[in-house]
Amino acid sequence: MPKPILPPWVDQARPIFGAVLLLTPIYVLGVAWFAADPQTIDVGYAPTQPVPFSHALHAGELGLDCRYCHTTVDKAAQAAIPSTQICMNCHTAIAPESPKLAAIRESYGSGKPVPWVRVHDLPDFVYFDHSAHVNRGVSCVECHDRIDRMERVFQAKTLRMGWCLECHRNPDPHLRPQDQVFNLAWQADSPEEQLRIGQEIRQRNQIQPSTDCSTCHR
Ligand code: HEC
Ligand code: HEC
Ligand code: HEC
Ligand code: HEC
Ligand code: HEC
Repeated sequence: MPKPILPPWVDQARPIFGAVLLLTPIYVLGVAWFAADPQTIDVGYAPTQPVPFSHALHAGELGLDCRYCHTTVDKAAQAAIPSTQICMNCHTAIAPESPKLAAIRESYGSGKPVPWVRVHDLPDFVYFDHSAHVNRGVSCVECHDRIDRMERVFQAKTLRMGWCLECHRNPDPHLRPQDQVFNLAWQADSPEEQLRIGQEIRQRNQIQPSTDCSTCHR
């Protein structure tokens, strides 16, 4: 009989090795899952809404401007969610019987707002301001991606502090002419052209995003 290569205790310990090998990945995955910041997991978050409202149809195909519904986005910190009245501007006449619009008609009758589910939600200790961005050449698409192609809204970016700071430190790749902010399809002809345009807009308008803690934590 050939001499065993491994010492005899290894044989006895085999079930333990097996268990460790099997359980370690499960343990590591479990820790990673719970330790992961919920903001990171939120990328792709796409809750079901009480009405299957499609931005791809309304903002994309029909070409409605974001500000037709999100009326405060260029005037205030918060981007308003449209009232039922805005939907009824069209839907008293268009698809008035559609079962997909049942919750809208109900809200219109009762005067109670539609319980839309929030998609993007920063922690309360963070201060954010829409108007400060969209009036300074930062388009919705930089932070929300192609909403005008989404059947259902999903969170496209991490919204983590590092993500905010990356742009605040170097905004040139993200600035566009003011008249293209609400046109999500706009793109510079090339990355070099984008940097040239971004730099020009930053210098002309003295855009200087702050990285002081108190800018976002007040
Ligand atoms: C006809 C009205 C309408 C238009 C036009 C419209 N939206 Fe909306 N938007 C809504 C409604 C209603 C919701 C809430 C339901 C949902 O999330 O789908 C919403 C939700 C959103 C949200 C998610 C809000 C949250 O809870 O985090 C974003 C981001 C958004 N819209 C961006 C845009 C952008 C960008 C445009 C322009 C390209 C646009 N919307 C045009 C009606 C509209
Ligand atoms: C400017 C006009 C206009 C406004 C404002 C508008 N819609 Fe629409 N909506 C349309 C048109 C046009 C259609 C396509 C109707 C069709 O395909 O028969 C449509 C279709 C829909 C549908 C699909 C209906 C079906 O049976 O397939 C839903 C749901 C809907 N809209 C929800 C909303 C909601 C919610 C709002 C308010 C936030 C809203 N719409 C605001 C014009 C509008
Ligand atoms: C610089 C990044 C950025 C840009 C640009 C931006 N958003 Fe947002 N948006 C956010 C963040 C972050 C939130 C979550 C805010 C919070 O939780 O306080 C948000 C939330 C929203 C909401 C939910 C309501 C609210 O205010 O919390 C809507 C609707 C919305 N955005 C629409 C738009 C539209 C329309 C545009 C373009 C006209 C736009 N956003 C441009 C980052 C951005
Ligand atoms: C794509 C680029 C970009 C991203 C992403 C971005 N910002 Fe900004 N931010 C800017 C620019 C540009 C300004 C305007 C600076 C100026 O006016 O000089 C600004 C200004 C601000 C201001 C100043 C408002 C005021 O009253 O002076 C706050 C607050 C702010 N951003 C918070 C945030 C937070 C929080 C996030 C992440 C959730 C974020 N920003 C993500 C580009 C960005
Ligand atoms: C441009 C906006 C912005 C600036 C400037 C900023 N923060 Fe934040 N901070 C955020 C956002 C957004 C979050 C929430 C998301 C996250 O946790 O990454 C956050 C979260 C935090 C947290 C909680 C971290 C966690 O894991 O929950 C701490 C602590 C913090 N910031 C400290 C600071 C300090 C200290 C500074 C100055 C050196 C600073 N921040 C500057 C946007 C900003």
